[in-house]
Amino acid sequence: MNIELKDLEIKVEDKVILDDFNLKINKGEIHAIMGPNGVGKSTLSKVIMGYPDYQVTKGDILAEGNSILNLKIDERSRLGIFLVYQNPISIDGVTMREIIKASVDSKDTEKKTLYEFVKEIENSAEKLEMDKKNLHRDFNVGFSGGERKKNEILWALMLKPKFIILDELDSGLDVDSLKIVTDTLNQYLKENPDTSILIITHYTRILDYIKPGFVHMVKNGKIIKSGDFSLAKLIEKFGYNQSFDIKED
Ligand SMILES: Nc1ncnc2c1ncn2[C@@H]1O[C@H](COP(=O)(O)OP(=O)(O)O)[C@@H](O)[C@H]1O
Ligand SMILES: [Mg+2]
Repeated sequence: MNIELKDLEIKVEDKVILDDFNLKINKGEIHAIMGPNGVGKSTLSKVIMGYPDYQVTKGDILAEGNSILNLKIDERSRLGIFLVYQNPISIDGVTMREIIKASVDSKDTEKKTLYEFVKEIENSAEKLEMDKKNLHRDFNVGFSGGERKKNEILWALMLKPKFIILDELDSGLDVDSLKIVTDTLNQYLKENPDTSILIITHYTRILDYIKPGFVHMVKNGKIIKSGDFSLAKLIEKFGYNQSFDIKED
């Protein structure tokens, strides 16, 4: 999916968090946004998803060339946008299977039979090396941080998104789980080459697993530097305060 953030200004409780923020992501591209804590990365991800707490005071967000600013979260989700939250929420009283079935049903024009749905979700759970019993537990209730991330990825696989935002995907995931989750995502990208990804992270570790073609460094509410994968390596080496004028030898 083609996504464009145009001259965005975002305020939270009247404080400007992002300002004059521009980013174009073409279908099939993997972009990474890197920046220190508190710079507004999660805010950006929630704004793209349509969270009402955040005010877009200037600019626009386009999906396939059309503004989505007036669309609600569920409408953006039906367009194919999926956000894997930094801190996924839990929902009491609704099992994982029920909530994912409801969201798949609201999106697909051709409804799957329950049998087809169960086969597909169990198959995806298997790929993620999840215990199938978890599908019958309340969504994310009592799950560890890493398990919650897996649950979100399972949901994503079932919804077949065209644009995925991964906000600090690696937080909470142990090395083995990170490998399983990113292998599964990479497989999904291979099967769905038009899907684009925005990886939001302050560590470079995740980028060794899902390799971005484009890396952007955010500071003071703006993208201050863009480059290819080598920019991530520079950030890893020198941190965010480096001016990056130094040429590597
Ligand atoms: N709902 C909110 N209410 C008040 N302040 C918020 C809210 N969400 C984010 N902020 C503030 O916005 C800034 C950016 O936060 P965040 O987007 O979470 O940063 P990052 O993800 O880059 O670490 C921080 O100063 C944070 O305290
Ligand atoms: Mg964050």
